[in-house]
Amino acid sequence: MLKLRSGVAAIAFLCLGGNGYAADPLAVGRQMLAEDNPGELWIDQGKNLFYQKRGPKNASLEQCDFGLGPGKLEGAAAHLPRYFQDTDKVQDLESRLLTCMVELQGFKREDVVKRAISPGGSSGSDVEALALYITFRSNGMKVNVSLSHQKEYDMYKAGEYLFFRRSGQTDFACVQCHGEANKRIRLQDLIHMTDKKGAQEVVSTWPAYRGAHYVVRTMQWRLYDCFWQMRLPELKYTSDTSIALTTYLHYQGNGAVIRVPGFKR
Ligand code: HEC
Repeated sequence: MLKLRSGVAAIAFLCLGGNGYAADPLAVGRQMLAEDNPGELWIDQGKNLFYQKRGPKNASLEQCDFGLGPGKLEGAAAHLPRYFQDTDKVQDLESRLLTCMVELQGFKREDVVKRAISPGGSSGSDVEALALYITFRSNGMKVNVSLSHQKEYDMYKAGEYLFFRRSGQTDFACVQCHGEANKRIRLQDLIHMTDKKGAQEVVSTWPAYRGAHYVVRTMQWRLYDCFWQMRLPELKYTSDTSIALTTYLHYQGNGAVIRVPGFKR
């Protein structure tokens, strides 16, 4: 009886908003999900894939340089995207990973790209698990993207331009959905990304477990999906367009403490 009564009291407490979430009921659900994030299961999978000898060259990814030296993962993701001399390109986490899977392990680029974004409800792709594991190794560190190389600066400016530019048959720009506070499409909050806090929340939480798809998703997927929503031509995986937008967003979010996997509806 005692138990029952305290249960009823707890429900009443929730309904009355005594938990401090009264202003945003959706936050209750989000908080509950974040505490029990199935995305954690992908971390070990990514770790195994990273250290396993794989591909035609039978090599692990331990020699992959994400910017701090071969195999140095601690904090590496916090500085991405960044310029890499060997490819003479600004690369985000996923394009860098792709470079290593091709160069070190001998995988065919097209094959990795084809499978990079997994079907919803599947067990996910190697790239999704690896991207999560590598970013996870920067958990607790602050996003710190630099624009000191000319190509980094140029990518940032291109991303900024793309973010504000209207395009396509619907004449949508990113900023129309993501440039104001408290906007929603149906039940989905549209994150306000021209606000520092909003940008920080975004760049510190990807890769994230996507509840609606039952898999871990990456930033490349997120951008791909917004392009689709805008009815723009399909965003090519790790294209310069995607990296420009990522560079812009990550630089805006500098200072955010990385906490992956995030949890998205
Ligand atoms: C038509 C409205 C619309 C446009 C235009 C749009 N998005 Fe989105 N965006 C959404 C929706 C809806 C979500 C997902 C919200 C959810 O699932 O909870 C989202 C989510 C995101 C997220 C993830 C936010 C998070 O939760 O961490 C990013 C990043 C993003 N969009 C970037 C962009 C970029 C960059 C552009 C321009 C190329 C863009 N969006 C254009 C509607 C839009």
